[in-house]
Amino acid sequence: MENAPDQNADQNLEEFYRSPTTTPEADPWALPLEDIDLATGSIFQAQKHHEYFKRLRQENPVHYHDKNPDIGPYWSLTRYEDIMAVDSDFQKFSSEPSIALFDELLGEERAPMFIAMDPPKHDVQRGAVLPAVDPVRLKDLDQLIRQRTVEVLDEVPTGTPFNWVETVSIELTTRMLATLFDFPFEERHKLTYWSDIITTPPILMGLTIEDRLNHLAECLQTFTAQFKERKFEGNESQDFISLLANNPATADMDGVELLGNLMLLIVGGNDTTRNSMSAGVLFMHENPSEFQKLKDNESLIPSAVSEIIRYQTPLSYMRRTAKEDVEIGGKQIKQGDKIAMWYASGNRDESFFPDADKFIIDRSNVRRHMAFGFGIHRCMGNRVAEAQLRIVWEEILKRFDRLEVVGEPERVEHSFVHGIKDLQVIAHPKG
Ligand code: HEM
Repeated sequence: MENAPDQNADQNLEEFYRSPTTTPEADPWALPLEDIDLATGSIFQAQKHHEYFKRLRQENPVHYHDKNPDIGPYWSLTRYEDIMAVDSDFQKFSSEPSIALFDELLGEERAPMFIAMDPPKHDVQRGAVLPAVDPVRLKDLDQLIRQRTVEVLDEVPTGTPFNWVETVSIELTTRMLATLFDFPFEERHKLTYWSDIITTPPILMGLTIEDRLNHLAECLQTFTAQFKERKFEGNESQDFISLLANNPATADMDGVELLGNLMLLIVGGNDTTRNSMSAGVLFMHENPSEFQKLKDNESLIPSAVSEIIRYQTPLSYMRRTAKEDVEIGGKQIKQGDKIAMWYASGNRDESFFPDADKFIIDRSNVRRHMAFGFGIHRCMGNRVAEAQLRIVWEEILKRFDRLEVVGEPERVEHSFVHGIKDLQVIAHPKG
């Protein structure tokens, strides 16, 4: 673990969470433009971010902020077309050294992962694990996903409130991850726990920095052992670890690079799908006529799944770094500048999605949402995520008349992962 994130880095990250410069109480339309700091978790937690984005799309779509002492100056892209142009152009916009604004706080010792690499290394590593989620394998997994969904939904209590996030969303995404890693099923909750450790500052999990390092060490130890065990001639298993262990391009990865890529695969498939699964229930509750539309016409499920993902946008942005001086929307961006592509804003861009702030399950261009990104880094697990969500809605419609959300959802304080921690639901079975 010599290259694991260091203790100072963790302390910096905690400071960053404690001292946002833009607050949920501020009026998004009155704040001086230069004071708007979108990398502020609390505005997402309070669901104020949409107003900030709306204002920037109208008044300053390529926005510069340089007052956040922790993460330094950065540009924000808020319009659909600008985001797509930058995301599609890896020649001018690098994913190195990092795809998050706050990662600089972790110092230079971040574990390398292919989402934060440029070609050719990115392409080789992505290519190594792609068979785990390709359409052929997914067809095989379809039945298993359904079986697990049925098991979990058959167990939910009816007529009494329970936390949908814990009971359904986390459980189903964890089971799926265990399959993709071929991880011991009874120990599957470790995967989710490690994912939370990776994405959440220890203070928010009630852990010390030392605890966090110990958990990451256990994660590395477990995976290193599995990597060694699965590295043998003739191993044709399609799980992530066997694929990395037996591809000549990745078989010699050192411990830190292995940890980085496994972190990516755990986190990539975990929070994102989990939060879409929870948010969908909330959106259907808040929009009963759309839910009725779905019940009346189940062939709308795939389109509803895309609309859920657009409306939630589980990853609010990806960051790029300019490789050369370049102009975007009339603004001069300098080589080395950080740029946040706010998918959360592009997905609400009224010039691309009419009535963008409305949840409409049969909108005509819904497949063109940007929550999976574009270009060479486009989400590798998009089909897995869509299959999980499609099946969960098919099975919900079979057994429940309505999923009633009671009380306010508890949301995550994060500007990168847009999520829900607690969603109290009463399941009303079909009569
Ligand atoms: C990349 C979103 C589910 C694995 C990405 C990116 C986004 C994203 C925005 C970066 C795209 C870019 O930079 O252009 C989502 C959403 C999901 C989801 C919204 C669910 C609704 C999954 C699942 C997995 C996964 C289920 C794994 C099983 C990955 C990986 C990458 C990635 C490995 C890196 C791809 C690369 O750099 O080439 N995802 N994701 N994601 N995602 Fe997902």
